Amino acid sequence: MTFLLISHVVKYPLWKTSYLRNFHRHSMSNKVPKRYTVTAALIYANGPIHIGHLAGCYIPADIYVRYLRAREREVAFISGTDEHGVPITIRAKNEGMTPQQVVDKYYSQIDASFKELGISFDIYSRTSKPIHHETAQGIFTKLYDKNGFVEETTEQYYDEQAQQFLADRYIVGTCPVCSNPNAYGDQCEKCGSTLSPLELIDPRSTLSGSKPVLKSTKNWFLPLDKMQTELEQYIGSHPEWKTNVLGQCQSWLKDGLKPRAMTRDLDWGIKVPLPDTDNKVLYVWFEAPIGYISATRDWLIQQNGTDQGWEKWWKKDPELSEDGETKLVHFIGKDNIVFHCIIFPAMLMAEGSYILADNVPANEFMNLEGDKISTSRNWAVWLHEYLQDFPGQQDVLRYVLAANAPETKDSEFTWKDFQTRNNSELVGIYGNFINRAVVLTQKFCEGRVPVRGPLEPIDQQVLSELGSFPDKIADSMEHYRFREALTHIMDLARMGNKYLADTQPWHAIKTDPDRVNTILNIALQISATLAIVSEPVLPHTAAKLATQFGMTSLLWKDAGSPDLLGAGQNITTASLLFEKIEDQAIAAQIQKLHDAKRQNELEGKVVAPIKAEIQFEDFAKQDIRVVKILEASAVPKSKKLLKIVVDTGLETRTVLSGIAEHFKPEDIIGQQVLYLANLAPRKMMGMESQGMILMAEDRDGSLRFIQPSAPVWQGATVN
Ligand code: MF3
Ligand code: ZN
Repeated sequence: MTFLLISHVVKYPLWKTSYLRNFHRHSMSNKVPKRYTVTAALIYANGPIHIGHLAGCYIPADIYVRYLRAREREVAFISGTDEHGVPITIRAKNEGMTPQQVVDKYYSQIDASFKELGISFDIYSRTSKPIHHETAQGIFTKLYDKNGFVEETTEQYYDEQAQQFLADRYIVGTCPVCSNPNAYGDQCEKCGSTLSPLELIDPRSTLSGSKPVLKSTKNWFLPLDKMQTELEQYIGSHPEWKTNVLGQCQSWLKDGLKPRAMTRDLDWGIKVPLPDTDNKVLYVWFEAPIGYISATRDWLIQQNGTDQGWEKWWKKDPELSEDGETKLVHFIGKDNIVFHCIIFPAMLMAEGSYILADNVPANEFMNLEGDKISTSRNWAVWLHEYLQDFPGQQDVLRYVLAANAPETKDSEFTWKDFQTRNNSELVGIYGNFINRAVVLTQKFCEGRVPVRGPLEPIDQQVLSELGSFPDKIADSMEHYRFREALTHIMDLARMGNKYLADTQPWHAIKTDPDRVNTILNIALQISATLAIVSEPVLPHTAAKLATQFGMTSLLWKDAGSPDLLGAGQNITTASLLFEKIEDQAIAAQIQKLHDAKRQNELEGKVVAPIKAEIQFEDFAKQDIRVVKILEASAVPKSKKLLKIVVDTGLETRTVLSGIAEHFKPEDIIGQQVLYLANLAPRKMMGMESQGMILMAEDRDGSLRFIQPSAPVWQGATVN
């Protein structure tokens, strides 16, 4: 028995041994599903795509799907835009467009930029399509007919001037926690508290500015409270989910689920398919995930003219899809976890005929240059701008975002890191290895794959390692550990470089050309495997390599083989795969980031809200008067403060004023300014500051004195 096994291993090609071992492990523990439905979040069509979206969701999803396809698994890769919901109407209002114009504009832009980056969706659909309205309404009706909803009349804020109910985001008021006067109905952005509109003090409508009134309205609620046990079982059956995902689910479950309204009093959205519901639409988080199902149907219709057979991608009915054989995976960012792990599954459970997600590998957030990415503050690297600024360099962005993806915790993108990863990893390791293999083949082997001669121990060692890479990488991919997969891929390129450095074909050529043939044959086999295993991350690069090496397919089953490229195969030269990125280009990007943010601040600067009312006596307590600046000088060791001596008409006073970055001392001497004379003295930098000079702050943050329109006598009071 032992003997047989050994002889079997020995006869088997070296590179196959580890493959067999791994194959066994896989086939026993993880049954390969018949097909995969892989979805990527339907992003709101209210703005362009940025690197945070890519790193959090779309790059990992695309890597996974490309990997599955290379494994020859049956996959549907589904995504599209979410075109309803308040985020769309708010953007429309801000941009002075209709919601329809907003979603049309951003759908096209998003769709085009994803295509150019090589995100390989099978369908990129939209929730505004009739097929989606029909699918979403169909599921709503089915739940309604099964008594899956609880009808409830509640009091909601209503804007009488605008004649509509107000979504949470349309109500602002004072935060009950921190007194921020501009808290939203669902959240205070100052202290981060989650709020409900009823908790706001002095609520006002952002539509008309008026005070909203409470009005009763009927809506349909999904009784999540009654489904708690089922949902606990579902989530409990997936201990393999990522800890960040399980953590969020468990915290929701621990708090106890509450019924959630699945209809809303709004006019932008999908009409509720019930009588007398004129101004009601389906809750956006009810219908948007159904968009995955509609998009699948849309895909089939576009391909075959009919959606016949769509059920196999979604249904658990064995007649339709061989029960349990379709594996559903949702790629999303962390802000979408509860909707995909609790609410959508609850809807599908209640409906009864659908499969549930097998995994929801949500990522955390990616920060940018030390700050949170923010659309409203315009602090982001936008995909469409990157594609313009770095034409033909899609794979660089894909690589950097994958290598640094926020898989287990928040991560950070910096342009410096982008440059380093390109220059030292893509150019220095991957590109360098392939380039050397190809150039040496041109030089020493007439541009053809040479015949491999007898193997030395170093060759055997390298070929055996080569054979072990595909399974190692596959294992990372199967478990959604794409950063780890990428580390292995780069290790393979490193191995190639080391092999060339150790065997030195450029020296060997002088004494032993046959040895060089063997070395370059092996280097080219490594390159060809590299093309296959890196394709999920670097598809444009892999496609170039395939052409260069005459490979007609890039299938995983061929990876690791020492005979991937046949002897005699033509190897063509090509331009460099990756190019060095210079400091200048990086500096320009950093500058661009800061300029865009500044521009945005200028455009968006909001006028401060009026402070709480005071009485005349409160005002009259202030002694504001006109004074003259007699002396001004810098305060040692302070960037901000100027020491200013003023004439109050009665005496001279010394004030420390935080204006050193705005004024030169010599320019302000002799000016008349407004001065608050009876402010309690304060100690700063070891000196006492008496009173305060009053300033107006302009929109760009610059400061101006407030001065009488004509000179007045020192000490003139201001009333
Ligand atoms: N529109 C949501 C967002 O951009 C994501 C919706 S995912 C869906 O955050 F599946 F529900 F559509
Ligand atoms: Zn607050």
